Amino acid sequence: MVLGQTPHHRHSAPFVPPTFAAVQTDLSTLLNQALAQLDYGQQPAALYDPIRYIMGLGGKRLRPLLTLLGGQLFTDDLAPLVKPALATEVFHNFTLVHDDLMDQAPLRRGQPTVHEKWNASTAILSGDVMLVRAYELLFENVPAAVLPQVLRRFSQTAAEVCEGQQWDMNFETETTVTIPQYLDMIRLKTAVLLGFALELGAVLAGASAADAEHLRQFGTDIGLAFQLRDDLLDVYGDAATFGKRVGGDIISDKKTFLLLTAQAQAGEAQQATLAQHIGQPVPDAEAKVAAVRGVYDELNIRPQTEALINQYFEAGLLHLERITVAAARKAPLHRLALQLLERES
Ligand code: IPE
Ligand code: IPE
Ligand code: MG
Ligand code: MG
Ligand code: MG
Repeated sequence: MVLGQTPHHRHSAPFVPPTFAAVQTDLSTLLNQALAQLDYGQQPAALYDPIRYIMGLGGKRLRPLLTLLGGQLFTDDLAPLVKPALATEVFHNFTLVHDDLMDQAPLRRGQPTVHEKWNASTAILSGDVMLVRAYELLFENVPAAVLPQVLRRFSQTAAEVCEGQQWDMNFETETTVTIPQYLDMIRLKTAVLLGFALELGAVLAGASAADAEHLRQFGTDIGLAFQLRDDLLDVYGDAATFGKRVGGDIISDKKTFLLLTAQAQAGEAQQATLAQHIGQPVPDAEAKVAAVRGVYDELNIRPQTEALINQYFEAGLLHLERITVAAARKAPLHRLALQLLERES
């Protein structure tokens, strides 16, 4: 079975490719079964239907899988980790609903986004209650002894995701964004949640503080690589596989590593092409995407991005190595990280 898919989801999310094969089919199945049993609420349906919709579209279920794989380093009894793990997935989906509204994105997981299928108010309020449900999943299922620590770290992470999102939005209209600023922005909007998901697994499984911290840092580095890959797929992905509108970042003037690197390396004619399209009202979105992608191609931006992705992967592995459990227990996490490097969706 493909990661994140149940037979029920196969029809609604046919774009999930076989390349993202499950590293832990049984864990993915466990997560999907538990997700299918969640009750977000019933009335008013206009509040809860969009939640069932977005959660039902599938996706890779990466963050709860990280919680379980993080826990599995230290324990074989993963049952108590499942519901807390789902909190990271519900939270993630909340951020997607709001992110799609903010990014004016038409497609998510190959289907219309919540604000397109319903409207902006729905995306806001259904998203809000998803954040509440994520908290409930934690405080109803995390043992009292670690609950304060988990809630503190989750709250910090959630606020950081919002900070990253705001930087991302600010940068759309800024012309002096640097690559270090971009990297800090993606650390906040994306990487800290992957780090938290792993740390949550470690804490729930009784890991030492030092091991939990290395796992978190492994997750942050993998998360940076993950967002860089997302930015790459946004330009070079196949819409049918990626499930999102390809070129969306270029259309929105997102200051990605790809654009910032191109701006830094462009010759005079390429500078002119970029200046003509970025930060300008452009009548033809597809022409804008083609022009900017053309500059990326000339400057070999793709291999440069892949090189940075590999650097973060290697940096993450150093943290994984330092965790004080047998190497064999780390193999599934190592494999998952490798799959993320090459993901197409
Ligand atoms: C999308 O996350 C948002 C980013 C942080 C890039 P995923 O790529 O994990 O999305 P799903 O959950 O698999 O659809
Ligand atoms: C997403 O960044 C980060 C979130 C916290 C949702 P993007 O805007 O690149 O995510 P996608 O590409 O829409 O999934
Ligand atoms: Mg965004
Ligand atoms: Mg987006
Ligand atoms: Mg993206």
